[in-house]
Amino acid sequence: MCGIVGYIGERQAQPILLNCLHRLEYRGYDSCGIAVLGGAVEIYKDAVRVKALANTAPSLNGIAGIGHTRWATHGEPSQANAHPHCDCTGKIAVVHNGVINNFQKLRQQLASEGHNFVSETDTEVIPHLIEKYYDGDLAKAVEAALHEVEGSYAIIALVSGESRLVVARKDGPLVIGVGDRENFIASDVPAMLDYTNRVIYLEDDDIGIVSPDNIEVRRHGVEVDRKEHKISWSVEDAQKAGYEHFMLKEIHEQPKVIRDTIAGYVSATEKGADLALLGDVGLEGMLILACGTSYHAALIGKYILEELVRVPVKAELASEFNYYGHTPVRSRAIVITQSGETADVIKTIRRMREAGCWVVAVTNVVGSTASRIADQIIYTRAGPEISVAATKSFIAQLMALYWLALPYSKIDIRKLDNLITGLRQLPGKVQQVLDNESAIAELARQLASCENVFFIGRGINFPVALEGALKLKEVSYIHAEGYAAGELKHGPFALLGSNTPVVAIVAQDNTYEPMLTNIKEVKARRSPVIAVVEEGDEVIGELVDSVITVPKVDAIFSPVVNTVALQLLAYYTAKHRGCPVDFPRNLAKSVTVE
Ligand code: F6R
Repeated sequence: MCGIVGYIGERQAQPILLNCLHRLEYRGYDSCGIAVLGGAVEIYKDAVRVKALANTAPSLNGIAGIGHTRWATHGEPSQANAHPHCDCTGKIAVVHNGVINNFQKLRQQLASEGHNFVSETDTEVIPHLIEKYYDGDLAKAVEAALHEVEGSYAIIALVSGESRLVVARKDGPLVIGVGDRENFIASDVPAMLDYTNRVIYLEDDDIGIVSPDNIEVRRHGVEVDRKEHKISWSVEDAQKAGYEHFMLKEIHEQPKVIRDTIAGYVSATEKGADLALLGDVGLEGMLILACGTSYHAALIGKYILEELVRVPVKAELASEFNYYGHTPVRSRAIVITQSGETADVIKTIRRMREAGCWVVAVTNVVGSTASRIADQIIYTRAGPEISVAATKSFIAQLMALYWLALPYSKIDIRKLDNLITGLRQLPGKVQQVLDNESAIAELARQLASCENVFFIGRGINFPVALEGALKLKEVSYIHAEGYAAGELKHGPFALLGSNTPVVAIVAQDNTYEPMLTNIKEVKARRSPVIAVVEEGDEVIGELVDSVITVPKVDAIFSPVVNTVALQLLAYYTAKHRGCPVDFPRNLAKSVTVE
């Protein structure tokens, strides 16, 4: 939610800031702006996307500056509410990602002291507080200002007359990129990959003073050492590589993502079953927590663990779990978060740890908040996911869950060997789904004119139905609902009819027969049915209007191939409807507010 960037060096700041902002747009895209430090602080901002801002911006001369791309929380998207925000003198400018909880009180207090506010944002109190404490040392003024602030923030501040940027973070992502006689700041690594792959992660309550040839980090006034890390992601990883959209590119990267993620856990020659990622922690009594698409991975994880390890597992929405009102009694939890920054998930981790639980974070982002506060980290290796709709990170999460479960599996050794072989074959199986792309794109044409679509599945493919519906609604704006197939007749049947297609996910497991019955029930209500079926199935094709065929895999891996088919269905439906696939309205990647 919201992306912030900063640059200080020897080059003109404006094009670098705009380029970094463009790469950060997945974090928010309802307005944006930059402030460049020349002789004075010059600001240009508007309620437009970065490309439009770049087209209209005058040339702002200066070798230091800050920028922001916004996902509105306080105040609608407008020029006044866009960042950077200024103090009364216009000499101090600030960009902020996060939420200031006590901003009303601070605003009243500052207004009574003569400060004039021009926006509805919570952020605007920060430059005014800095102004209040500024006596020639920006870092000290920022520290004093933040002392009064309650909430979450990653900020970058500049003031005319000082050739340095001051950054600070608390519960908000912030990375400093290290260059040669120039330095960069951004909410996320992909923003800076064009310029550097050397980064420094700040800790909560750190204050960084960044000049072209120096980075000093202070904590409570005392200088601290923060190590430099080298990032393995390349510029190409964060570019479209010829694809029309990041979502399509990321869907196509999934065979590689599966390979990379598995290879990260065990070398190609090692037997997976020998490697317990969780060490002695085990999987007994696990609670799996996550939000959104990651929650769907958590639900599938529950099925995987219960099937293979034969232990009861609960999967919960982090956003709900945080408000149960009682201390968690379970001693272990897996939290799944692509970004590692989702506010509800971070709150869960803290809450669980305070209660003495052992928390394992499955995340895609090295150095993310989740990776820094959990007891144990299991990285997925999906590479940077830019499209707001999660695709490859979800598949990588499933890989982590399979790999977690297999070593603890209580199934017959021969079956276990088969599963490990099956897991290794998944990249090829997913490639087969991708090779069927044009047929899926054609089917998507039928969905493109619909208002409502149901997705149904059973067992391990019930969460796949939820994920298929989530993907379709977020990128195509078609109302879609995922349902457990047996539940449709308990109410939603009232909505069925010839204009309401049903996508049925049919796996070759013990749910096959009841799914056939459910499909027949739906057909009797005249809803067109698109079935996702395994190759070789000759029964379903006779019953339904269209089929999407996926390759044969063990039923436990069916969520992988089925989800990839549904991702393509959602993508092409959105494309046929002319939707902005990578940046759906009102959404942002990395939801850093509750
Ligand atoms: C949907 C999507 C979101 C995220 C959710 C959690 O396509 O991307 O539902 O899955 O916001 O995000 P992470 O996994 O970063 O915690």
